[in-house]
Amino acid sequence: MIQKYTYGAPFPTEAVIGASTPAQGDPACGEISLEDGFRFTCRLAPDDVVYGLGEANRGLNKRGYRYVNSCTDETTHSESVVSLYAAHNFVVVAGKETFGLFFDYPARILFDVGYTRMDTLTVACGHADLDLYVITGEGPYDVVRQFRKLTGPSYIPPKFAFGFGQSRWGYKTREDFRGVADGYRNNNLPLDMLYMDIDYMQDYKDFTVNGEEFPDFPAFVAEMKRRGIRLIPIIDAGVKVEAGYPVYEEGVAKGYFCKRADGSNFVAAVWPGDTHFPDVLNPEARAWFGGKYKILTDAGIEGFWNDMNEPSIFYTPELTAQTRENLEKAFQDGTYTPNMLHKQKPEARGDYELFYHNTIAGTKRHDEVHNLYGFNMTRAAGEAFSRIDPNRRFLLFSRSSYIGMHRYGGIWTGDNCSWWSHILLNLQMMASLNMCGFLYTGADLGGFGGDTTRDLLLRWLALGVFTPLMRNHTALNTRNQECYQFEDMDDFRHVLGVRYRLVPYLYSEYMKAALNDDLIFKPLSFVYPEDKMSAQVEDQLMLGSEVMIAPVYTQNAKGRYVYLPEEMQFIKFLPCGELRCEILAPGHHYVEIALNEVPLFIRKGKCIPLAGPAETVDSLDTEHLTMVGYPGGYELYDDDGVHKDYGNPKNYRTLRKD
Ligand code: GLC
Repeated sequence: MIQKYTYGAPFPTEAVIGASTPAQGDPACGEISLEDGFRFTCRLAPDDVVYGLGEANRGLNKRGYRYVNSCTDETTHSESVVSLYAAHNFVVVAGKETFGLFFDYPARILFDVGYTRMDTLTVACGHADLDLYVITGEGPYDVVRQFRKLTGPSYIPPKFAFGFGQSRWGYKTREDFRGVADGYRNNNLPLDMLYMDIDYMQDYKDFTVNGEEFPDFPAFVAEMKRRGIRLIPIIDAGVKVEAGYPVYEEGVAKGYFCKRADGSNFVAAVWPGDTHFPDVLNPEARAWFGGKYKILTDAGIEGFWNDMNEPSIFYTPELTAQTRENLEKAFQDGTYTPNMLHKQKPEARGDYELFYHNTIAGTKRHDEVHNLYGFNMTRAAGEAFSRIDPNRRFLLFSRSSYIGMHRYGGIWTGDNCSWWSHILLNLQMMASLNMCGFLYTGADLGGFGGDTTRDLLLRWLALGVFTPLMRNHTALNTRNQECYQFEDMDDFRHVLGVRYRLVPYLYSEYMKAALNDDLIFKPLSFVYPEDKMSAQVEDQLMLGSEVMIAPVYTQNAKGRYVYLPEEMQFIKFLPCGELRCEILAPGHHYVEIALNEVPLFIRKGKCIPLAGPAETVDSLDTEHLTMVGYPGGYELYDDDGVHKDYGNPKNYRTLRKD
């Protein structure tokens, strides 16, 4: 059951599209205070587990820390970070009493999950204008399923997006891209996508291409496509301020950029220098900005990644003056610290109080609707694709997001680091993101910041083979991170190859989850609610209805401990191309997993299909699949992967293992 409690005059975030029952008074599961903004508190029993929060730091069980949902460009995801790029305000308290809470509120909101007091969950925000949805059900999984219905179906990408993609901030020229394509193709390393970071643009101007480096862009897109590679360009939120640049000129003429209080266009410096932000909370401006993607789809582009859309702001003209004043004052009264100059984020500096949106609910200052910006930038693109080619799917994912955006695109989890702990964070986030509707997700494999190592990349790829978005991406000036840059390339060929062998299964499970408002990744406790130990497992996940994954995430480890709630078949993809299968009894086991092996576990009585080797998704032979696991049947979903003909019963067929 879903009950909706309305406080004050909530902003129409458009996160929710499903049905709920309006409720009177306050929810029975907690206490509400409206004294200073809005505050919800409830007691947590010692064994309660708190799930949710989507893209947030720390574990699957969010207990014991605080999380500030305020979309932030955060470059160092260390353990103490409280805000990342997204605001997914959904939690499930699971225990004797189980209930889900969705705080549909578009601005900064705090989740104190047993941080101030270990036995108390507090959720607080500045204004008492929000909808609170309280969901009760049979257990956490049931609660999540109801929530997923409430917020509507997840985005479905084209099938090629289940291939492997290579990215790097720093590829600039056609020769750079050809070089990477050669590195993969000439070494028979599978590859479906090459991502174009900001340097493909002319002076970082959205929807432009550097004409000197890419004199005939459509021809270059076609050249890559002939090699089985899709180019996926980045689009940033800020539109460069430059006379003569059509997107800028048009946006100014039509009044489609965010405004200051005095009606002038707000200026924020990002990669291109001074930019204006398209007012994507204004439906007309959103349609206009979305329409610009056609410039690139007309050139043959089939996918995009939307970035810097928290929105990230390096500095504003106002704040430079004010910062200077503050600094001078701090020097005088002796309170100066270096942090005052470098470390402050736009929110702390007050940048988000300097501009306004023309929304469906009237004029709103940005900080009041801050968490909706990335959502609506991505929605601009998603809605535009439906106009450009209504029956075709485009690849689309975003850095910043709010619940509701999951209907328009996926997300990548932003600027992680080449740290072993970030493999585990990647794993844990997958399930939390799925709970919030984000199915097409993945992390920068190998790590974005810092220098990767061969073993880190291999281990991370061995998790990445299971994440719908499988992309190797790294920052400017880091060590080369493409799979062909390391010794014994066979190991990389093998691990990437496993991904392609799994694509029929992964795609099938993705589509079933998307079409049924279900999850691909679940904590073990969602599948084994009676098993007490399962609720404590933080480094294994259930994948689809058949598989459990347990990646290795520590350096120099030759294997790891796993916990099996039931008997399972332990499968290792060996580098020779063979599989090693072993039945393991329920309980704890130490399993050996070499650096060049990919492990997975098949649940008792289940089986999954495997394709033969392939170097692109398009060239996969989905007719001849081999079954592994226990004798029985598997219902495979498949379609052309291009169009939106999802519901066709012809898309299902049953495969059998004897
Ligand atoms: C941001 C993105 C990163 C990208 C960089 C340059 O940091 O998160 O993925 O490479 O900007 O565009």
